[in-house]
Amino acid sequence: MTRIAAKLLRWYRRHGRGLPWRGHPDAYAVWVSEIMLQQTRVETVVPYFERWMKRFPSVKALADASEQSVLTLWEGLGYYSRARNLHKAARLLVDEYGGELPRSVEALRKLPGIGRYSAGAIASMAFGLDAPALDGNIRRVYARLFNVEVPADSTEGKKILWGLAAEHLPKGKAGDFNQALMDLGATLCLPKKPRCAECPLAEECLARRLGVQEARPVLKPKAETPYHVHAAIVLVAKIGNSRYALLSKRPSRGLLGGMWEFPNGRVEGDPARGLAKAIKSGYGFSVRAGEALGVVRHAYTHFRVAVHVFRGELTLPVRETETLKWVKLSELGKYPMGKIDRQISEKIMLKHKGAQSTRKL
Ligand code: ADE
Repeated sequence: MTRIAAKLLRWYRRHGRGLPWRGHPDAYAVWVSEIMLQQTRVETVVPYFERWMKRFPSVKALADASEQSVLTLWEGLGYYSRARNLHKAARLLVDEYGGELPRSVEALRKLPGIGRYSAGAIASMAFGLDAPALDGNIRRVYARLFNVEVPADSTEGKKILWGLAAEHLPKGKAGDFNQALMDLGATLCLPKKPRCAECPLAEECLARRLGVQEARPVLKPKAETPYHVHAAIVLVAKIGNSRYALLSKRPSRGLLGGMWEFPNGRVEGDPARGLAKAIKSGYGFSVRAGEALGVVRHAYTHFRVAVHVFRGELTLPVRETETLKWVKLSELGKYPMGKIDRQISEKIMLKHKGAQSTRKL
């Protein structure tokens, strides 16, 4: 075992975080947690993980669930293709692997949503295999320990860093070692102002010796993210004693795939003027814009968007389809939505008193 591994494992025994998926006997739990943790912080993930394991306690339970219930439980975690892939993979595991996760990095990587990192993490943590895993935290730790000057997100940088991660794995202890590196990165080897004085690997750290730890990892310059303006329409109809809002379901692939939203489209210039045209070209029905309800903003990974929200009315009735539905205001919570549309939805429910939110999150 290398000095780095020995020191780190000793530190982990004392300072490792007690997290609900650690020491879990079930590979399924490790898999779910790893997918949730891919782009999301540990503190955010913990309550989602616990809810998920109660609701879908096994691969079989997940495979039997509807996509709508899976996406609703995931709502708020973002990057919804992760949930869709988990669901798809669960069905595949039931059909082809007897509901069990396969016990090799290569087979794990063939499952939807499992890449090099997740396969290594699951193989090492759930099955005790000697597999490296390189996430953002571990990448930062190695880039500093070995003062990697090549951009960590370049092909060459990735090769170097994966090589370091493989080289330092202590045999038979890869699961703990990978998680120790993650915890070190999350608690001491921080992106800004790393707490080197408390670090068990301070003596080993080349970047620290050179005083360049805050400048590692080196990353490629980022392109500026585009900015889009959208207009959305809230159409509310009273049928009998209940009020309904018109929702549209997004295509199952791509951004927010399978989630519901208020009809909307990209506009140029004045959003109130562009709205009717955007709705006509996106959905084929005609509307008239009414009162402005406000602007909701959100930053996705690759672009930022401002959605101008309007009340409005239909100029002709629309036919319901699989992807266009009148939903009772009191049932809006059952329809999975992204942050923007959930915000609009909550606002509408507040306006129409009596239509209490059914969401628990
Ligand atoms: N990030 C990704 N996987 C993790 C794990 N198992 N523990 C802590 N942080 C993580």
